[in-house]
Amino acid sequence: MTGMPVNGIDHIRFVVGNARQSAYFYRNAFGFDVIGYAGLETGMRQESGYVLRQGNIILVLTSPLRPTHQFNSRLTMHGDGVADVAFSVSDVEEAYRIALRAGAEGVRAPETIKDAHGSVDMAVVKTYGDTTHTLINRSHYTGLFMPGYQPIEPERYSARRSRETGLRDIDHIVGNVEAGQMNSWISYYENVMGFESILAFDKREIHTSTTALHSRVVRGANGSVTLPINEPASGNRRSQVDEFLYFYSGPGVQHIALTTDNIVDTVEVLRENDVSFLPVPDKYYENLEKRVGALSVEISDLKRLGIVADRDSNGCLLQTFTKPVSDRPTVFFEIIQRHGATTFGQQNFTALFEAIEKEQAARGTL
Ligand code: FE2
Repeated sequence: MTGMPVNGIDHIRFVVGNARQSAYFYRNAFGFDVIGYAGLETGMRQESGYVLRQGNIILVLTSPLRPTHQFNSRLTMHGDGVADVAFSVSDVEEAYRIALRAGAEGVRAPETIKDAHGSVDMAVVKTYGDTTHTLINRSHYTGLFMPGYQPIEPERYSARRSRETGLRDIDHIVGNVEAGQMNSWISYYENVMGFESILAFDKREIHTSTTALHSRVVRGANGSVTLPINEPASGNRRSQVDEFLYFYSGPGVQHIALTTDNIVDTVEVLRENDVSFLPVPDKYYENLEKRVGALSVEISDLKRLGIVADRDSNGCLLQTFTKPVSDRPTVFFEIIQRHGATTFGQQNFTALFEAIEKEQAARGTL
């Protein structure tokens, strides 16, 4: 497969209404450390930024400081959400050239930004909706994250370390696109990024009695980047993907799955920190081990914490889903622990989507 060479996910950038308060949420609820800040005090005049890190996961939270900033219209349209998934590449100019030649739309041509700590090369291309991919090389930079960002000073923003929750890596990032658009975005990742299409589910596999969706998955960068893409399929009622498209005003990132090596401990702490999870009906846990085989954790712990299990030919996985993290029913998180399984919990789709539909019904959007 050709396409530009991607090394992995560098970071995920959210545009939010109030980055300072969102940083507090991701620190105190999800256990990220707030390690860097950019804003008026660091010479950034138009926007603020907070860099959060946990394990190998880097999130950047950005808010506009002035009414003329382009992020304002984005916030009106989409609310808080993922604006950019940055891929690390070795040669930004080369990657950008290959991407454009393969059909990607450029947003920002390659540039190098510098300060006393070195340089960062970056360029930006479009993907679905108003979402972009920054192509970035930070390997010649020894400072904190990138020029403009400084370490958090306690008097400016509490640098208190968060309570560890054990989140380690980004497992996958899911996009929702409009009906009929999934295949062309899958082709985009195949042609532009050189990713491989690895799985496809049609509406016979992902449905409840009332709604359905299609999903396909691309993977690249030696398996380190996995991007499922969903589109709504015809059903009697408005599916969770339709609901997302309505409240996000178009395609965008639906959920981010984060790995842990101990999902029971992780979800225990997240729940104590007041993270809300999708409820799983008690009856799901009846005969669970008959359905998925022996598990290395107590079923009572899974039931208490709302964790579901699945098995594929390579092993098993444990997973659970938060409720949306903002008032608009849009982006949410998945917590996942893999014991060999390489798929996405296909056997749980119906149970989870029924749980989501209960939430949708409460919101009057089913
Ligand atoms: Fe997922």
